[in-house]
Parts: sequence; structure tokens; C-alpha cells
Amino acid sequence: MRVIVAKNYEEMSRIAAMEIAKLLYVKPEAILGLATGSTPEGVYKELIELNKENRVDFSRVTTYNLDEYKGLTGDHAQSYRYFMNTRLFNHVNIDKNRSHVPNGVADDFEKECDEYDAAIENAGGIDLQLLGIGRNGHIGFNEPSDFLNLNTHVTDLTEDTIKVNSRFFDNIDEVPTQAITMGLGSIMKAKKIILLASGESKAEIIAKLVEEKISTRIPASMLQVHPNVLVIVDQEAAALLKNTSNDGIEYLK
Ligand code: PGA
Repeated sequence: MRVIVAKNYEEMSRIAAMEIAKLLYVKPEAILGLATGSTPEGVYKELIELNKENRVDFSRVTTYNLDEYKGLTGDHAQSYRYFMNTRLFNHVNIDKNRSHVPNGVADDFEKECDEYDAAIENAGGIDLQLLGIGRNGHIGFNEPSDFLNLNTHVTDLTEDTIKVNSRFFDNIDEVPTQAITMGLGSIMKAKKIILLASGESKAEIIAKLVEEKISTRIPASMLQVHPNVLVIVDQEAAALLKNTSNDGIEYLK
């Protein structure tokens, strides 16, 4: 796991966008795993700019998003399909038929989950997976628990996640209580993973992710065993990192 401490949110976003741009330069048909939430918005803004300047081309890219709220259709303003369309896909030269977000209103969720994993596998696997992190350590909607799921599945959201995400809804009762999410196995199969975190509210979980033992209570800690993870945080999110010479962790400041 490499950790880069960026000066601020903008620098964090720029570094991540450049990593994606570099990949698309050498592999224009790359498969990207994408994330929603406040954290990656800056990365998408950067990518839109790079695309406008013809420095990054999405015409052959395929994308798979991590998750979607169960019960929301893609045109719901809080659905993750809507988020991706409005924050990135509508503004770059991607073929939307090759952009995939789990279907939150599938007739048969078991089938939807199985087919989502199979589609990723058939496409050749994810080259680069972008992740945010919940302050409870979730990645996608893999919430802290005694057990974690390998594959894409339907999951209950924890109270903390519902509370945190209620900021996007008119009131907390409107927040869906379940979601469809890629599992830990689906995420860990990605060839490269970039996890982003910004702000004081993420400082505690970033210290745990980087410096504590692996635990299902911190789902993101599983990333410690992945061979190619880049954690990019801003200074506020890095504030509680102590050990700057931990095995395998490189601090580039
Ligand atoms: P955030 O969400 O980027 O809005 O903080 C991250 C997450 O919950 O995974």
C-alpha cells in the first residue's frame, strides 16, 4: 500500500485524475471501476477538463460502478446512475452503453448481482478501481460486520451510513436502507486500486486503514493484502497517521 499525502482536496483530485489519464494513455480500452460520493467529485471535474483538452479519451473505455441504492431508478436525483451521468458521463466522450451501474430496481436481484460480476469478468476484469471510504471503514457498501461478502450482493446499510448519507436527501426517512454493492472479492480482483480520502472526518479511519490490523470491522483494511493499492489523502485526512515507515507504505509528501 502506498500512501500519498496531498496538500489539499484539489491536489488529491489532480493526482488521482492523472493516474487515470496515464492508464487510458497506455490502455485506451481500459475497464474502470468508479465510485460515487463527495470525495471523487473533484477527480471527475479534472477528467472532464482533461477530456475537453483532448488529453484523455473515453471513447473506448468501459466502466463499472461500485454500488447503487436499492429502490432508486437511474433518473432519481440521488441514484448513483444519476450521479455518474451528471458528474462525469454527460460531459465526456464515453459511450454510455459501456457504463455500468448496478440496477437498483432489478426484478431479480440475485440474477442482477451474478450478472454484474460475470460481466466484469467477461470484460477482462477491472484495470483501475477508484474508491472512497466511509468513516466507518466501508468501501462500496461493504459495511463493518463479522462477515464480509465476496461477490456483488444486496446489503443493509448501517445506521451510521444512513445518517451520513441523509445529507443528500430531504429527510432521513427518504434514504434507502439497502443497496446493491460489489463485494470485497469483486473489488480485490481489480489490478490497481486508488482509495481517496479528504477532510478531518476521515482522519481516524485512514489511520486505522493504514496502521491497524486487518479486520472485517474495517472492511477497507482488506486492501492491505492487495498488491497494488495507492491511497491518496489530503493533509486533514492524514492528520492521525503516525508511522511513516510502516512496511510497504511509502509516504510521498
Ligand atoms: P464520501 O463517501 O465520498 O461522500 O465521503 C465515501 C463513502 O461513503 O464511501
